[in-house]
Amino acid sequence: MKKVSVIGGGTMGNGIAHVFAMSGFEVTLVETKQEFLDKALNTIEKNLSRMVNKEKISESDKTETLNRIHSALDISEGVKDSDLVVEAIPENFALKKKAFEEIESAASSETIFASNTSSISITKLAAVTHRPEKFIGMHFFNPVPVMKLVEVINGLETSPETTKAVMDLAEKLGKVPVPANDSPGFVSNRVLMPMINEAIFCVYEGVAKPEDVDQVMKLGMAHPMGPLRLADFIGLDVCLDILNVLYDGFKDPKYRPCPLLVKMVNAGKLGNKTGEGFFKYD
Ligand code: CAA
Repeated sequence: MKKVSVIGGGTMGNGIAHVFAMSGFEVTLVETKQEFLDKALNTIEKNLSRMVNKEKISESDKTETLNRIHSALDISEGVKDSDLVVEAIPENFALKKKAFEEIESAASSETIFASNTSSISITKLAAVTHRPEKFIGMHFFNPVPVMKLVEVINGLETSPETTKAVMDLAEKLGKVPVPANDSPGFVSNRVLMPMINEAIFCVYEGVAKPEDVDQVMKLGMAHPMGPLRLADFIGLDVCLDILNVLYDGFKDPKYRPCPLLVKMVNAGKLGNKTGEGFFKYD
């Protein structure tokens, strides 16, 4: 694989484009508006400069990486020569279905399709296309240039060849791929989200203040961020969506979202991206 298209230049998409380009792949980043493309490219440039300042890469590595990133405002234009398409658009099945229909109408029949979804069923997304054997989940973690894990999720019909190709590819990015089968929340969010939800229940029930809940998990369990700051970082709306996927998928009350989380999302307090969640941000 040499050419990769990344659909969506948000937090995850720009990070994914960054790591592919840094590992020598030609990347086409597809967005719906020029201002979104400009913002994504700016973020990649800033994150590469941070790596230059930390002497992890040289100035010429940065320039070469940026030169390998091309952009497109149209899916058909952006995917036509790609070996792999990684979709990283918002977590909405209808939006992803529409995107994969467009991607399939323009991509080669050999192209592998991957979704960076954190909660939508890979089997259900694969069924939108005519190539479920070439469809897989490639779940990256934020911040993508820093986090080592890629959770590789097999849909019901993903072929062993596709899994192997994507596992090998993730290693070429310097990541550690871990395979999982399609199931609500996969492994990562099935384990992470109940912890975050329980931390929110602690605040809701007055057991401890947000900063104290986080301090317990940072100092007692050596987590780099407390669960409430992490929830703000991920986005409280995203956490709620994932908990609902777990709750609906397993029909088990242990995944019921805390009413405080629902209230905060309804109030528009979504975490870092809106300037306020459990904590305030500039
Ligand atoms: N690009 C490149 N490098 C970056 C970066 C970025 N976007 N963000 C941070 N870094 C680098 C910094 O330059 C720094 O490098 P050095 O170690 O060489 O100094 C290093 O990462 C640590 O950054 P900072 O010193 O700025 O800050 P920190 O030590 O507080 O670490 C953190 C920040 C890496 C985010 C850390 O707090 C952490 O690991 N937090 C947990 C993150 C996490 O759990 N992410 C998963 C979220 S779940 C998800 O994404 C998926 C889902 O489905 C919900």
